[in-house]
Amino acid sequence: MSFVLPTVDDTRAFGVALAQVLRAGDLLVLTGPLGAGKTALTQGIGAGLGVAGDVTSPTFVIARVHRPLRDGVPLVHADAYRLGGVSDPRAEVDDLDLDASVDDSVTVVEWGEGLVEQLTDAYLEVRIDRRDDDTRTVDLVPHAGDWATRLGELERDYAGRTVTALRS
Ligand SMILES: Nc1ncnc2c1ncn2[C@@H]1O[C@H](COP(=O)(O)OP(=O)(O)OP(=O)(O)O)[C@@H](O)[C@H]1O
Ligand SMILES: [Mg+2]
Repeated sequence: MSFVLPTVDDTRAFGVALAQVLRAGDLLVLTGPLGAGKTALTQGIGAGLGVAGDVTSPTFVIARVHRPLRDGVPLVHADAYRLGGVSDPRAEVDDLDLDASVDDSVTVVEWGEGLVEQLTDAYLEVRIDRRDDDTRTVDLVPHAGDWATRLGELERDYAGRTVTALRS
């Protein structure tokens, strides 16, 4: 499933919509080049989940936990970019002391491809790409679980809510 995201606000709005189909235990693996909009999308997810704290690129930490402001699930936002250079990145991921369990949170990992998929039985792959005209596309690829069903829900909800995101 693929959507066009013309501006950063569209990317954030898409994150808000995506959050509506998320629940505790979910793992999202975000891919895309530097500056693609992975953090921007995560900001929308954080807004949609209603969590505290600004979602930013973690500079000194690999991962940050955002607690829900009301009832809801925490958002664990991880950036595995700097794990790319270490000799055993999987061990580093296993060692992350996230202070929130994957089962009880929505976990979003930037640069986590090939590193974190084994954390859960199922996950959603989110591929963001930058096109020549600087707009972004996002492709959602379900991996096991009920992701395919939930993406169907998202497609119906999101298509009704905005005119700027067109299914491509
Ligand atoms: N359609 C768009 N969607 C998302 N970001 C956009 C879009 N158009 C322009 N931008 C700009 O691109 C940048 C995306 O930055 P962001 O930090 O979200 O990327 P990233 O994929 O997380 O990068 P990094 O790999 O460095 O973590 C922002 O400056 C944003 O304003
Ligand atoms: Mg980022």
